[in-house]
Amino acid sequence: MKKRMLNAGVFQGNLLLVNGSYPLRAACGREDLVPVAAQYPKALLKREAACYLRLLLSRVGGLSCIVPVSGYRPAQEQAEIYENSLAQNGEDFTQKYVARPCCSEHQTGLAIDLGLKKSAHDKIDFLCPDFPYDGICAQFRRYAPQYGFVERYPKGKEALTGIAHEPWHFRYTGYPHSLFISQNDLCLEEYVAFLKGFSQENPLRLPARGKTVTAYYVPAGGESAGLPSPNRAGRPGWPGQTSAAARFDCSDYAVCSGCSSCSVCSVCSSGGGYFARQVSGNNVDGFIVTLWGKGNE
Ligand code: DAL
Ligand code: ZN
Repeated sequence: MKKRMLNAGVFQGNLLLVNGSYPLRAACGREDLVPVAAQYPKALLKREAACYLRLLLSRVGGLSCIVPVSGYRPAQEQAEIYENSLAQNGEDFTQKYVARPCCSEHQTGLAIDLGLKKSAHDKIDFLCPDFPYDGICAQFRRYAPQYGFVERYPKGKEALTGIAHEPWHFRYTGYPHSLFISQNDLCLEEYVAFLKGFSQENPLRLPARGKTVTAYYVPAGGESAGLPSPNRAGRPGWPGQTSAAARFDCSDYAVCSGCSSCSVCSVCSSGGGYFARQVSGNNVDGFIVTLWGKGNE
């Protein structure tokens, strides 16, 4: 029983690697999806990702001009998008810009395509929205890693991601993984592989605004050595744990704008108002455990 639960957890969590080689294995639960913004009720993300995206948009003053074009997509929608693109844009374009059904991280509820709306009548392209590298979009990119988001398909990483450069596609991985990924110029494929070099005895130290955060990899299939107990009460942070989702209340987050001193969220507290530990599957072969220290230790 315990082993089955452990292995199911490999396919859930913020650090899932979903691509052409590693399709999504566990569908995203609808109950944890919320609209990113009231004015775009169809653009859904997982609650945690949506909360941080709202904070980020508010931080850069982008709530009115940055449009969430496409967030969560069920498998059926991804299949339709793929088929329509094949018919309208051909195979070359589609392979570059549209993931095959079940290979799209839009199905995780952790990915969002954003478009810049320059005027009220601006028409935003659904597959390739304009999200330039200057102005407010540059500000968004600057702060995104502080709020758990990374630009998922950067220029130069096409051979690793299997997808062309997509300046508009952002992925929630959670902070401070997002910070490490962007500061070290990694794509998620590289980061997930890199993390496998770290164990409970030799964890990765992640800089996180002076706090100590460590992360390490635990292979699936074995016993639970190195993993926090999944089912113990008061242990949110385990993938799929409903108690974890319940702690994401957007009204709490509204008061936190990513400052360095409040105790509202993990962006700026060391687990005081949030998870002291998190476990995410990597969708490949194991788990990543993230531990927040109590202070500047
Ligand atoms: N555009 C990205 C790769 C997707 O379809 O998931
Ligand atoms: Zn996308």
